[in-house]
Amino acid sequence: MKYGYFDDLNREYVITQPDTPLPWINYLGCQAYFGIISNTAGGYSFYRDARLRRLTRYRYNNAPFDFGGRYVYLRDNESKEFWSPSWQPTRHELKDYSCRHGMGYTVIGSSYKGIEAHTRYFVPLDENLEIWQLTVTNKRAVKASISAFASIEFCLWDAQDDSTNFQRNFSIGQVEVEDGVIYHKTEYRERRDHFAYFATSAKGGSFDTQRDVFLGHYRGWDKPATVEAGQLTNSIAHGWAPIGAHQAKLELAPGETRQIVFVLGYHENPVAEKFDPPGSQTINKKTVKPVIAKYLDPKEADAAFERLRQYWESVLGVFQVNTPDIHTNRMVNIWNAYQCMATFNMSRSASFYESGIGRGLGFRDSNQDLLGFVHMVPARARERILDLAATQLPTGGAYHQYQPLTKRGNNDVGSGFNDDPHWLIIGVAAYLKETGDWSILDEPVPYDNAPGSETPLYEHLQRSFRYTLDRLGPHGLPLIGRADWNDCLNLNCFSDTPGQSFQTTTNKDGKVAESVFIAGLFVHAGQELAAIAKHRGLDAEASTYLSEVAKMDQVVRKHGWDGEWFLRAYDDFGAKIGSKECEEGKIFIETNGYCVLAGIGLEDGLAARALDSTRKHLATKHGIVLQQPAYSRYYLNLGEISSYPPGYKENAGIFCHNNPWVIIAETRLGHGDEAHDYYSRINPSAREEISDLHRCEPYVYAQMIAGRDAPTHGEAKNSWLTGTAAWNYYAIVQWILGVRTALDGLEIAPVIPKNWQGFTATRTFRGVVYKISIERKGDGNSIALTVDGKPIKGNVVSPPADGRREVVVKGILS
Ligand code: BGC
Ligand code: NOJ
Repeated sequence: MKYGYFDDLNREYVITQPDTPLPWINYLGCQAYFGIISNTAGGYSFYRDARLRRLTRYRYNNAPFDFGGRYVYLRDNESKEFWSPSWQPTRHELKDYSCRHGMGYTVIGSSYKGIEAHTRYFVPLDENLEIWQLTVTNKRAVKASISAFASIEFCLWDAQDDSTNFQRNFSIGQVEVEDGVIYHKTEYRERRDHFAYFATSAKGGSFDTQRDVFLGHYRGWDKPATVEAGQLTNSIAHGWAPIGAHQAKLELAPGETRQIVFVLGYHENPVAEKFDPPGSQTINKKTVKPVIAKYLDPKEADAAFERLRQYWESVLGVFQVNTPDIHTNRMVNIWNAYQCMATFNMSRSASFYESGIGRGLGFRDSNQDLLGFVHMVPARARERILDLAATQLPTGGAYHQYQPLTKRGNNDVGSGFNDDPHWLIIGVAAYLKETGDWSILDEPVPYDNAPGSETPLYEHLQRSFRYTLDRLGPHGLPLIGRADWNDCLNLNCFSDTPGQSFQTTTNKDGKVAESVFIAGLFVHAGQELAAIAKHRGLDAEASTYLSEVAKMDQVVRKHGWDGEWFLRAYDDFGAKIGSKECEEGKIFIETNGYCVLAGIGLEDGLAARALDSTRKHLATKHGIVLQQPAYSRYYLNLGEISSYPPGYKENAGIFCHNNPWVIIAETRLGHGDEAHDYYSRINPSAREEISDLHRCEPYVYAQMIAGRDAPTHGEAKNSWLTGTAAWNYYAIVQWILGVRTALDGLEIAPVIPKNWQGFTATRTFRGVVYKISIERKGDGNSIALTVDGKPIKGNVVSPPADGRREVVVKGILS
């Protein structure tokens, strides 16, 4: 069953039933001010860091699941009935409910007894605020007297502290109300120089700022006493729970429409100018007032919305495709790219499954996110790369995570995830291929943020590569450390105490357990680094990398091949993991995907066998599971992977992030049908019809779909913030469609399904628009290219030397 539909023309997903199986969310903001908003207006806002600068409060894992948000109420002052046009929080009956999630905005509305209302929520570009435009129309034949209420609950900034430290926090809440604007200033009197505000364009209305006055004793957001009574009380919060609630009265003639604008924002003052008058305790509002006044004007709000629309038009316009498959088209052209922006911005911090108070930015995650993001805003990718590299350690190792506000490595988790450094090479290679901006390699970047330790970025890559060579195990394979890509394969931890971290409670010195996955990654990263070195004229260095790569390739064949597939690892006792010899966990996806992606065994048939085995043992109609058989009990020597019940997460779940490795691997063998078939199994749009089973949003990838061992096989979890976004984007665009960035130009190498007659695409690459059309004339993947009508040799189109801004590329597949 479906709960809505794709409106591809408007780049929206339209939800037509509010009680979706799970909250279906969207993100507001794409620079510094962010919000999460569900299809029933649930969610919260923050400035830069979801933990440390949380503007509004949200209670995760609630019942109902999604409670707390940007809530609007309407009250018919004659009948005294009240309802929420977004369904929550009142869950009152409604007509024509719809939620349109679009690019950086959400519009939620409905009608009730002839009163139609919708609210458009968005964050203007370059501003630290969000706008709610509430439009109310009286469709009745008679006049209507309506009260409109809008409400939010402030968070006392540090979301972690806010949800635990009540003995302090119930006493510190403070607000100011001036000219109808509610200012939240908790802790502004001491060390904070920032505050939040909630303003309305409605003049002369009333407000409340103390939650329990607004709601009434023993009442929730579904039935605020003041809304029921039809009158806010102008309460001022002293301690307890500061909120912002506004009331506006609308007398609407038949057919009349009125718009009220609400602005929720964040503002910082220079420390010396915090108070006005100086020496007082009153917020200096001089610089914020013009901003508020500007966006309360509906014309300015509309203009800001239009700028946002144009921004997305241009960001998405970098790559657009038209294939015979609608699911491919809408994911590539709209939603997958959009999700890549969200993963770039949020890493794995704030979603409805990530609380915003846990992980910072992951080193591995953020580097991989670049694969799907770099073409959209290369300048931000550049900045991210330099931030990431600055947390690298002198050994070449990396902090596993860093905090976005401080940009410092996170000591709680530390380092020692031995795959981490290689992702920096892969991220930088993606940036170079996209931009041709070689200057980044000469940027001085410190280690562990220590002033004076700077070397050119290029040396960071050299050290990344070296890191593995310095840490080889008994078979010559890379030592795994705390974990490799699979955070839950913890071969050195032996955790036996509840609550211990599976990754960081190390009891072993880790000189034995090896990862075949890191070997595959090393081969891939080594080739990338060699190509970069060669391009810089460092031929001898490039050869050294390639010879190390060749050695590792041999080691993998000798000690990483199990007969029908690639092994996964060796444990601390030197025993095989992912082998036919194992009782459980005989075959794993990661090595079979990644080793082939890296090119191991392409010539001699190992790759083909590995992929056959993957198909035979791991593929299900909902995607490829992580390993088989699932672990049926906890293994001390394997760690977190075996902590999950069979079929979930890393224990034989369909961990969508790694499915594209197999997809890319299939394209490397020229298997377009297989590649696209795997792609479609986890494509959320292609799964829209089974929304009751899938449950998560049909417009974005989820991290995991329950595997065949799970009682809920096919059910997705952890939508939005996952490496799946970037990797699937990269797999479909660069490997199936084969519009691939290369150091020297744009490579065109499609490996598409046999029954596709071709496709067309537009790609803006290094300032030039490539109009690409591919036509199939035979079953194979050989391509003959013409550029502006002239045949070219090979399949890399170099940027035109004569400064043309647009070229026409035609490819014939045979
Ligand atoms: C999760 C993994 C995740 C890891 C990160 C584990 O609990 O299962 O998916 O990568 O934590 O720390
Ligand atoms: C999620 C993590 O964010 C990612 O870094 C990791 O590779 C996967 N889990 C697999 O464990």
